[in-house]
Amino acid sequence: MSVGLDIGSRTIKVVELNREGKGFSLKSAGAVAYSGLTNIEQISSEKDMAGLSETIKKLLKDAKVSGHNVAVSLPETQAYTRIMKFPLLTDQEIASAVKWEAEEYIPIPIKEAVVEHQILERRETGNPPQVLVLLVAAQNEIVEKYIKIVDMAGYSVVGVETELMSLVRSVSIPATTSLIVDFGAKSTDIAIVKNEQLFFSRSVPTAGEAFTRAVGQSLGVSFEQAEQYKKAYGLTQEQLEGKVGKALIPIFQVVVEEIKKSIHYYQLELKGEVPTQIILVGGSAGLPGASAFLTKATGLEVVIGNPFSKISLDEQSAKNLVNYAPLYAVACGLAMRGE
Ligand SMILES: Nc1ncnc2c1ncn2[C@@H]1O[C@H](COP(=O)(O)OP(=O)(O)OP(=O)(O)O)[C@@H](O)[C@H]1O
Ligand SMILES: [Mg+2]
Repeated sequence: MSVGLDIGSRTIKVVELNREGKGFSLKSAGAVAYSGLTNIEQISSEKDMAGLSETIKKLLKDAKVSGHNVAVSLPETQAYTRIMKFPLLTDQEIASAVKWEAEEYIPIPIKEAVVEHQILERRETGNPPQVLVLLVAAQNEIVEKYIKIVDMAGYSVVGVETELMSLVRSVSIPATTSLIVDFGAKSTDIAIVKNEQLFFSRSVPTAGEAFTRAVGQSLGVSFEQAEQYKKAYGLTQEQLEGKVGKALIPIFQVVVEEIKKSIHYYQLELKGEVPTQIILVGGSAGLPGASAFLTKATGLEVVIGNPFSKISLDEQSAKNLVNYAPLYAVACGLAMRGE
């Protein structure tokens, strides 16, 4: 049994899975909106921590989570994900080289960081021959804060990784190169994934809340009303004389440009191939018209990711989750770690 907990800036999601041979079955899932402070950098007082941990405790209780051990994700903005390039060294040599060289890649002292690496690819016939290594680092202090908040809720943290590392497990498609977009409330995270491994990540501070604000300002309506218009009409041009769509397009365009830049960087710096598809997840993946707009803007196939596709569900859960599946991409991936 394993539990994945995704503390987003607006919604907190939990997924509990049972392992069945090599696969998984869903035990429980739940999500709750949270309006308190979730920005881990800003959380400092016991009171802030208590507010968040009480919400987590209630969510896990309401969702009937029975496991005690929880894996949590770090927002991309709180972690440093880099690609290191080495000559053809052995795995062991790479492990020690990473230790020596990591500090050049991250803006914090290595003593204050949790550092992990994964060997992605050995390009023996490349020019020059190279080993590509994924480096992920985060500040100890940030990781410890999450551990404390979860502990205060009565659970234990058994694993920590970045949100995009989690997503890769739940929504990537084997034997392809894909671009995955986690379209959240405060941030849009972009990953390029090849053969189910993360080769590139980027976080853009433009997502669902920016969409809602744009609609609110443009139509002169409250945030709540704008949220409803956004969800109902999105980028489609049919309602309210296309006003909602018109307000959203410039903001959406920011994300489109970041997607294009990401692909360009991946091709140029890592000699990677153009992704065969874009996989959209996160709450804002539900924005009406988003897939069609992205397809037109990038020329790539766009699909809405289903993180439950690698998990067996009973009929009732499948029914309950069908409209919310993309929301659970990070939580599913975390639970699939299988601690
Ligand atoms: N059908 C929909 N159409 C458009 N937007 C939607 C829809 N449903 C939810 N959203 C938006 O999704 C956002 C919440 O998504 P999500 O839960 O993925 O964010 P989060 O994980 O809390 O945030 P972040 O990842 O940025 O920290 C909100 O901005 C909400 O307005
Ligand atoms: Mg999120």
